Amino acid sequence: MADPTPDTWRRVDAYLTELLIGHDPGLERAVADQNHAGLPAIEVAPVNGKLLHLIARMSGARRVLEIGTLGAYSTIWLARGIPAGGQVVTIEAEPLNAELARANVDRAGVGDKVEIRLGRGADVLPTLEGGEPFDLVFIDADKESNTIYLDWAARLGRPGTVVMVDNTVRGGEVANPATENPQIIGVQRGLEMLGRDPRFDATAIQTLDAKGYDGIAIALVV
Ligand code: DHB
Ligand code: MG
Repeated sequence: MADPTPDTWRRVDAYLTELLIGHDPGLERAVADQNHAGLPAIEVAPVNGKLLHLIARMSGARRVLEIGTLGAYSTIWLARGIPAGGQVVTIEAEPLNAELARANVDRAGVGDKVEIRLGRGADVLPTLEGGEPFDLVFIDADKESNTIYLDWAARLGRPGTVVMVDNTVRGGEVANPATENPQIIGVQRGLEMLGRDPRFDATAIQTLDAKGYDGIAIALVV
């Protein structure tokens, strides 16, 4: 079997996306507006948005925590995966992103399920203590803080909480022990924590899609 070239995996991604995801005006408008506003095109690929959505449904999640909203593309997928009365709390550090995200979740028809908390994760997360535990946590923000976010995911979750971490492969750089890129080092520290911290049991999958070669870690809070 030949190793995939970027052309192969983009073609396959387009094929799978067309077959299994199709088109959704709420999601596509969210991406279009995000691009128009000049935000970076770093939202998850449609196949991975659907993965988040299905894992929310498969795990029966009602309360979801997302760290890193951007334009709310993944937020909309997650909100559509929880029942009426459920909630996605999503944390965004950039006021303009949060404003755009608000418009996008409202237009996608999930505004009543989404609470956007403006601020840096490390500042907002402690304010969530004492509430009902989160059933699903999606970490997709500044990679340098992944260990802080994982610690909060365990503290704000419960045994059985599902934790997903975006961008865990970064074109293969994650396996470079000599990297000096602080974001890659942040991803490495997060994965090391998932391997060692007794609060988690975890795996990670490599992904090839419209966003290139990357990966997602999936952990269970035990
Ligand atoms: C990038 C991609 C992401 O999904 C993210 O969360 C942050 C950065 C990137 O490609 O730079
Ligand atoms: Mg990401």
